[in-house]
Order: sequence, then C-alpha cells, then structure tokens
Amino acid sequence: MESLSDTQWDVVISGTGLQQSLLALALSRSGKNILHVDPNDYYGGPEAAFSLPEADEWAERHRADGRDGSLFAGAEVKREADGLASPRAYTLALAPQLIHSRSKLVSQLVDSKAFRHIEFLAVGSFFIYQPPSEASSASLSRIPSTREDVFSNTAIPARSKRSLMKFLKFVLDFDSEPRTDVWHPHTDEPLDVFLASQFKLDSALQSYIITLTLSQDGKVSVKDGLTTIHRHLTSMGVFGPGFAAVYPKWGGLSEVAQVGCRAAAVGGAVYMLGTGIKHVRKAQSEDAQTEANLEIELTNDMVVNTKRLVKGSEQSTASQRISRLTAVTKSDFSSLFELQTEGAPIPAVTVVAFPAGSVSTEEGKSSEYPVYALVHSSDTGECPSGQFVIYLTTVHDASSKSILEKALSSLVAAVQGDDEASPSPCIYQLYYDQCGGTPSLVVDDSTATFPLPPVDLAFNDSILDTVQEAWNMVMGGSNEEGDEYMKFDDREGGNDDDAFD
Ligand SMILES: *[C@@H]1O[C@H](CO)[C@@H](O)[C@H](O)[C@H]1NC(C)=O
Repeated sequence: MESLSDTQWDVVISGTGLQQSLLALALSRSGKNILHVDPNDYYGGPEAAFSLPEADEWAERHRADGRDGSLFAGAEVKREADGLASPRAYTLALAPQLIHSRSKLVSQLVDSKAFRHIEFLAVGSFFIYQPPSEASSASLSRIPSTREDVFSNTAIPARSKRSLMKFLKFVLDFDSEPRTDVWHPHTDEPLDVFLASQFKLDSALQSYIITLTLSQDGKVSVKDGLTTIHRHLTSMGVFGPGFAAVYPKWGGLSEVAQVGCRAAAVGGAVYMLGTGIKHVRKAQSEDAQTEANLEIELTNDMVVNTKRLVKGSEQSTASQRISRLTAVTKSDFSSLFELQTEGAPIPAVTVVAFPAGSVSTEEGKSSEYPVYALVHSSDTGECPSGQFVIYLTTVHDASSKSILEKALSSLVAAVQGDDEASPSPCIYQLYYDQCGGTPSLVVDDSTATFPLPPVDLAFNDSILDTVQEAWNMVMGGSNEEGDEYMKFDDREGGNDDDAFD
C-alpha cells in the first residue's frame, strides 16, 4: 500500500463533528481519495457522546473560563458517592438536538441509505413549568400542538381555545397569500407582541407558542417564529401518530456523525483519530502535472499532500453562548412519557420549558431567559433502565449556572409532586458553557472552514447547505459523472458494511 505521505489526497477533512462527517458521507461513493483526521481520540467533535469516564476526562480538559473564545468552557462535574451504575452504562451527548420529521437531514440520510444504521426514537410531549403559587404547587402543563390536543385540553378556557385554533390554522399555511399580508408588515417584530395583537392570545398561550419555537433567548421574531412553528406542526404525524420530531438512539447526532464516517471508511477513506493539523503550507509546484496545492503537517509529524482541506472552526467569533447542565437522576420521570395519542410509539424524549422569570437563584434573582430541559428515558440508551438523563440549557450569563441548578431541582420537585425542591436530586451532573455559530461556510482558495455548530435545540437545516457547499468545492470541476449530492444507488445486496465490519 502506498504510504499516506506518498498518496495524492483529493481532500483532507479535519474533525469528525456532524458537518465534517456528513461531508464524508456525501463523498463516500465519489471515488475521491479522502484522509479524515481528528485531534480528539473520539468521533463526533462537538456532537460527541461520552461514557462517564470519558465525560470526566473531557470536563478536565474544558475547565478554563472560555475567555479565549474556545468552543466549550467552564466544565465541572459533580457526582454522588452511590447510585451510579457501571460508568460505561451511560452515553451523555454534548449537544443533543431534536430532529424534526420534516427536516432535510432525515431525507438526506434516507437517500444516502445511511439511515439503516440509525434507530430513530420519538420525541413526545412538550411541557411548560408552572411555578408554585399560593393556590397550587409547582406543576407541568402539556402544550397542545394539534387540533385534537387543543380540543381535549381541559386547562384552556373555551375562548382561548378558539384563538389558539385560529392561530394554528394560520401557521399551517402562513407562507401563502393572503396570510403573508397579515405578517409581512411585522416580519422582524417580536412574536409574542404579534400573537397578542393579531390573535388575542393571552400571556399563557403566548408562552406555549414561544416554547414550541425552542428559542434559546425567547426573543424570536415573527418570521423565524412562524417558520419554526410551521416546521413543528407539519412534522407532526409524518412518521407516525403523536410526534413531530425524532432523536437517534445512543447519543443523538453523535450517531449520525459516526454513521457518516463509517460510510466513508467503507468507501475507502482513511481515518486517523488523535491526529490534528499542525501546519498548512501552499506546496511549491515544481511539476505542473501535480494538482496538489496544500502540504499539511500533522501533529504526528507526518506530511501529506492534498488538493483541498475542509476543517471546522475552533474559535468562536460569534457572541452566542449558552450554559448547559446535564444530569443523571434516579427520580421517577416516567409520568412525562405517558402516551397521549392512540397508536403512537412510546416517546424516549420529552421537552420541558421554564419561561423567563419562572425560576430564581438562591439570591432571589429571577431567570432572564427561558430554560429548556430535554428529558431522556433509558430507551435512548443513554442511561440504565430506571434512570433518566436531563439536558438543561439557557443563555449564558453570570447567574446561568445557579438558574440551571434551580430549574433542575424545581423540575424534580414538580414531577414528584413535592413542594420543596430537594437540594441534590441527581447522581451525576456535568456543567459547561458552549459557544455557537451561524451556519455559513468560509472558503479561502482551496480551504473551507465550517462554522461552529449552532446551539439550537432542534437541528437547523441550513447546516446542510454548508455541507453541500463544501461538497461542491471538493467535487470542483471534476464532477463529470454528474453525481447528485447525497443520492446513492443501493449497492448489491445492500450490505454496504461487510468490508468494514
Ligand atoms: C437556521 O439558521 C439560519 C441561519 O443562521 C437562520 O436564519 C434560521 O432562522 C434558522 N432556522 C431555524 C428554524 O432556527
């Protein structure tokens, strides 16, 4: 076999996060010479999923405060002495996201045949946290998101139901005339104001709708809000009754990334983990015949030649920063996973939103932004049976850590029906901050750089546009076969992976 240094690579891909891995998948049948490296010794980059020892080690490496603009910062682990099962029985996702059934990601995985290796689980109900009042203790109320749901909901007064129905009907067809006339003049206004003025939705219903947008700061514009709620409503029922989104078993997008890399490996790509890029130089072209124009020195001192380089960005330039708290609990959360629709699959993930102002720190400062909790049952394969993993997020600020801790204990208290939040409801907790980017590919000559992944709670399809742009760059003028992006014929027998396994 030719040595790696002697090989003329068509592309070197650095990092095995979702974007790079989808690119690897897209190129997997292209016949290109692909060298895929990752400085980490695990797959998945910012979308990785970890066992507890791996999470501990990762946290150790990401303790710094992040003022240098690093993607992850401020990591901290807390664990109880007992209660944890074997540390390998956990798979904690660094950046879990729901995938709406109508997302292009799902259809691209289907077209590429890669979906066969992924088990998609249903995302069930969305809840809103209702803080305790003089009259009642804290509770969770389920957000109705279909007509049937609204009809059967007993918590919403009849008049409000009519307004809500009118709004849901509007959203289903919001992007055609004459409905566009209603919202176009308000495109960039805040959605809650629009909901109040145009649909007479009260503040409770407004927060239901805002929750469905999963907006991290809760300040979503009319255009973005209508777009995301439309995505939610039209995704409902696509893969079966009662759910609008899916989540890949065993760690979410980390599974998708691994499937992408695996497909590329089957197609002949060479993988090197624990190997990063030290230097990139423009190669001196002594011989006009060689197309190589980059000389890359790897961290293992090997030098390789390639026509193109695609990498992920390592530093944040964007201001978007969120705080995350991932907790493993033995508290019984099974009531959140009860079936609401006949014939629906049992959900493995539910969403709980804490509207801005609904939780406060010990010092009495109330939350300025919403907090979201994705609650995962053991069906996700992320924890042993009888336990749950809760992924909380909120916009980063000076008090976000204590807000997340308070939201966590309030959530446990609300589910257990206790008034008092127990101080330490969880057996393992991992806290950290993450910076996010906006999807846009930076192309500089023969190098393309993916942005930091956005910190959204639902997968944003515009990431796929950046992947396709990178694919176009790599395919360059050489796409004579007229290969279609992510469209593969079934290989004989459909057993793609025999060579790999
Ligand atoms: C996806 O990202 C684009 C680009 O940042 C943004 O304009 C759009 O609003 C996002 N879409 C959703 C549904 O969040």
